[in-house]
Amino acid sequence: MIVVGVGCGPGMLTMDAMDRLKKAKSVYGSDRALDMVRQYLPAGCRTVTLKDFSRLNELPEDSVVLSTGDPMLAGLGHLGEEVVPGISSMQCAFSRLRLPLTKAVVVDAHGKDEESARREMLDEVERGRIPFVLTEPGFDIIALCRTMQEKGLICKVIACENLGYADEMISFGDAEQPPAVISKLFSLIIVKEGCR
Ligand SMILES: C[S@@+](CC[C@H](N)C(=O)[O-])C[C@H]1O[C@@H](n2cnc3c(N)ncnc32)[C@H](O)[C@@H]1O
Repeated sequence: MIVVGVGCGPGMLTMDAMDRLKKAKSVYGSDRALDMVRQYLPAGCRTVTLKDFSRLNELPEDSVVLSTGDPMLAGLGHLGEEVVPGISSMQCAFSRLRLPLTKAVVVDAHGKDEESARREMLDEVERGRIPFVLTEPGFDIIALCRTMQEKGLICKVIACENLGYADEMISFGDAEQPPAVISKLFSLIIVKEGCR
């Protein structure tokens, strides 16, 4: 099975990914991933919307599985014999904000209790890193900001919503005035004062 990264939003597909898709016979992915690639699929290519990701290892060998963003950033890359990279939400966000990826650290807040995710991101901030936080819808930014205040951390809190889409929005806040988030698809970046 090949896992193809489709980028974090429309227009973020690499030429290598496009070439693989042009030759695909069966493509599996979420609705969001399929929507990003439909125009590149050949006539007659079977598309299957995936809701259950637990049995992907049972798919035929020549299947193409789509992974949003980059497959190796909390994606489906671990399932592929071959992985085609895509532009991740982290790359997109750091480019938009002109922040150095050399200072970045990924904090995956998916399926984790939020308290330990908060601890991890703030420990990284104190070490001089710039955490990029993969969130779940409903992630509590107010609680994060409260913990930052308790620790006396002076940082920018940046919410990146729908990166790559027409309704992309990047909002800036801090511990006293957390950024407001309206969509379900968002990630966070925390930058300590003076750290760039
Ligand atoms: C399971 S992770 C997958 C990340 C993906 N593999 C990537 O490379 O971007 C899903 C999380 O990534 C972040 N994310 C993915 N796409 C995004 C986008 N277009 N805008 C903002 N955040 C995004 C969100 O925090 C989302 O909950």
